[in-house]
Amino acid sequence: MCGIVGYIGFRNASDVLLKTLKRLEYRGYDSAGVAIINGSLQVEKKKGYIDALSIDFEGTIGIGHTRWATHGAPSNENAHPFVDCKGEIAIVHNGIIENFMELKEELLKSGHIFKSDTDSESIAHLIEEYGEYPFRAAFMKAVRRLRGSFAIAAIKVGERKIMVAKKESPLVIGIGDHENFIASDIPAFLEYTNRVVVLKDGEFAELEEDSVTIYDNNGKEIHRDVTRIDWSVEDAEKGGYEHFMLKEIFEQPRAMEDTLYALESRELFSLDIERVNIVACGTSYHAGLTGKYVLEELLHVPVSVYYASEYRYMAAVEDPALTILITQSGETADTIGAAKRAKELGNITVGITNVVGSSITNYVDYVLYTNAGPEIGVAATKTFTTQLAVLYYFAIRSALSMRKLTRKSAERLLSELHRMPYYIEKVLDEEESIKAEAQKIANANSMYFIARGLNYPVALEGALKMKEISYIHAEGYPAGELKHGPIALIDNGMPVIALVPEDALYEKMLSNIKEVTARDAYVVGLSSNGDVEKWVNSLILVPHTQPLFTPFVNAVALQLLAYHVAKTLGRKIDKPKNLAKTVTVE
Ligand code: F6R
Repeated sequence: MCGIVGYIGFRNASDVLLKTLKRLEYRGYDSAGVAIINGSLQVEKKKGYIDALSIDFEGTIGIGHTRWATHGAPSNENAHPFVDCKGEIAIVHNGIIENFMELKEELLKSGHIFKSDTDSESIAHLIEEYGEYPFRAAFMKAVRRLRGSFAIAAIKVGERKIMVAKKESPLVIGIGDHENFIASDIPAFLEYTNRVVVLKDGEFAELEEDSVTIYDNNGKEIHRDVTRIDWSVEDAEKGGYEHFMLKEIFEQPRAMEDTLYALESRELFSLDIERVNIVACGTSYHAGLTGKYVLEELLHVPVSVYYASEYRYMAAVEDPALTILITQSGETADTIGAAKRAKELGNITVGITNVVGSSITNYVDYVLYTNAGPEIGVAATKTFTTQLAVLYYFAIRSALSMRKLTRKSAERLLSELHRMPYYIEKVLDEEESIKAEAQKIANANSMYFIARGLNYPVALEGALKMKEISYIHAEGYPAGELKHGPIALIDNGMPVIALVPEDALYEKMLSNIKEVTARDAYVVGLSSNGDVEKWVNSLILVPHTQPLFTPFVNAVALQLLAYHVAKTLGRKIDKPKNLAKTVTVE
């Protein structure tokens, strides 16, 4: 998804912008550009990767952008920054301007010439249109005309400042000494400063080298505390691993510990829960679906799970007492839209996110954080298992406060939850054997992931990881469902990854495995029970945990499996094609 950066200070702006843009590469993009003021405005923008930009501009103030095409194909013309007709104002934009057609028509009538097919270009012309006002006022007037979602930064020749505005798209400000930064997320400028100001929707900011002034929507100055971020640049870098994804898979024991520690260090709100809706997208949706099984088991209340993109527009949603919205980035447009709808429907809402101050936190009644640290690989890994940790913790604590669990049982479950980092370490120790398995199945055209009950969402997640980064077609199914259709595709040697925890459905899983081995599937079992070896072609042994906790170990084993299949195939693991880390459009 688009990323924006900006710099004002004493360093060479080209260097800073290129470095900070590089740190946003993981969001996914198809073109990049920068604009720098050094007496006049100098702009370089191109379709393709950041490395394709040839910039040797002088100047200590500038803005930059990585674009992920929405309006208009990826091209040099449609790349940001956009410039007004006089070539004095440059803007970068992340989000979508919904009323751009009507603005463009108006601007064309007053003589503006457009050079791109984008919605964003109209912003530069609109600021120019208010040229009789000082730059700050002109910027604010233009932004107030926009409908849709945006994070915008603008610079103007003769003005030593960067103006920014935010609504429903991420934007953070980094505060340095005699220099200031903006970016779509914190890791971009973490090398330079860990002091951060988070803008809220509807706010503006004016950055000069020695000051950052924040204004509300009416242009009234407001105070905002500076937050110190305790991630290091190292946290956001690869730390010796070949890929961010692998580093993040291996960080899971620590991420779980940090998440549980943070949860225990706060007072958990207590709610009387009669029914629950969970709303999310992608991997977060799979965490939510696992959460359904856990909440239903422990709280004995009905739980419905929805894709955020569907929930937003459903004609009727059941009346829940509680709606949980899960989004690691906190910026997913559909999940934010769903949070707004849930509120309009009068629900109590809880957001689960990994990013402090992200947009979702503005739209929910309560926030629970996963403390996974920055996740750079496009495929979610440590944010998934920490989302599970939050959901399990929330379920156990709520069950205790609602007297659905005795203190003793709750403590037993909590202590098993605390053992998960240890069990995950054990799975990570198995990397070599999982890699060997991955190499055996890497040439497949298609795979199934099957499981029952609580592990069914983990099978969905395993299949999603596999297709995202290896580009092999993979589907997750409840094992009992195969014979109702999908079994038709099983043929000689097709890999079927079967999750076989030692739970109440163990024997039923074995029967389902028999159904596919009878049709010559190549079955890779995941189980803590060595006997499963007799039923499958190959077994990945995972540590034995209480049945309720098996999703943690299975999910990590499947992440490693997908990673090593993708690596065997030489895929771009951290930045798979067509995917973006933060999906800020519907
Ligand atoms: C898959 C993946 C995506 C995200 C989805 C939601 O590996 O990362 O499916 O889970 O785009 O993102 P968040 O959690 O940021 O709302």
